[in-house]
Amino acid sequence: MDNYCLFGFPVHHSWSPFIHGLFARQTGQAMEYRLHEVTPAQFRHDVLEFFFDSGGRGCNVTVPHKRAAADLVNVLTPRAQLADAVNTIVRRDDVLVGDNTDGAGLVTDLRDNLGLHLQAPHILVLGAGAGGAARGALGPLLDELHPQALVVANRTVERALELADEFAALGPVTGMAFEATARFDKPFDLVINATSASLKGDVPPVAVTAVGPDTVCYDMAYGVGETPFTDWAKRCGARTVVQGWGMLVEQAAVAFEAWRGVRPQTAPVLEALRNRAAAIAAGVKPKGPRTPT
Ligand code: ATR
Repeated sequence: MDNYCLFGFPVHHSWSPFIHGLFARQTGQAMEYRLHEVTPAQFRHDVLEFFFDSGGRGCNVTVPHKRAAADLVNVLTPRAQLADAVNTIVRRDDVLVGDNTDGAGLVTDLRDNLGLHLQAPHILVLGAGAGGAARGALGPLLDELHPQALVVANRTVERALELADEFAALGPVTGMAFEATARFDKPFDLVINATSASLKGDVPPVAVTAVGPDTVCYDMAYGVGETPFTDWAKRCGARTVVQGWGMLVEQAAVAFEAWRGVRPQTAPVLEALRNRAAAIAAGVKPKGPRTPT
């Protein structure tokens, strides 16, 4: 049985074993996917070496190890290099290749699952954290959606300005504070929440005028029920409000293909996830491979 895993801290809440379990079943792959909760110090020490020396074939990396993983692998894919963060590691012979499938997952969800085909959109990305959630998305958003303007807003405005500076060569990116979004005279076409504010029950103090009746609001976070951001976006009257379930499944599918050479179908897995979340919200103990806790 080939071994895969997710390193994070914490990871017990992760839905990735459920997703990869369904992908493996669907494509007939004999593989196991486990969760490994390791501290940043452990991760930087020898956890990856140990995992791959013991026969591990590949892994995912999540918060707070994505930046460290970029330092620890032997080679980075161009998109991982741009993101300066790794969420997927593939072993090719003795070389550990670090990839970042988050941004590709987001764009696939926007385009293929949500059917979003915007012409020269105005995009607002909330967040510019060191963990790389926003950073990982910028390259694919610029490359694939060809925005007319991409604004990065962040609580710590310096980080937004730095990120905008770094990506300025790739497209029309500007950085600002959340409150400064009030200066625009029309709503954005797409607003993406890449902050971790939801975890604290907060919504970034973005101007309500940033959202209008044609705006799509996307929260990279996901949860059982509304997140504070999706709740806020609905109250602002956004056209479409979505949580990051699709991004989660799509980034996993890209990782799965890199590991196993076969692309799983994501639609049935996304549906299973939504059903599972609905069942949990309704207080029903869900069935299926590997119950996330
Ligand atoms: P990641 O980049 O992976 O999301 P992170 O480095 O923890 O992880 O970054 C968290 C992001 O959420 C940052 O953009 C952070 O803003 P700061 O750069 O100012 O710290 C943002 N964030 C966290 N809590 C927030 C809150 N309560 N309100 C608004 N933004 C918040």
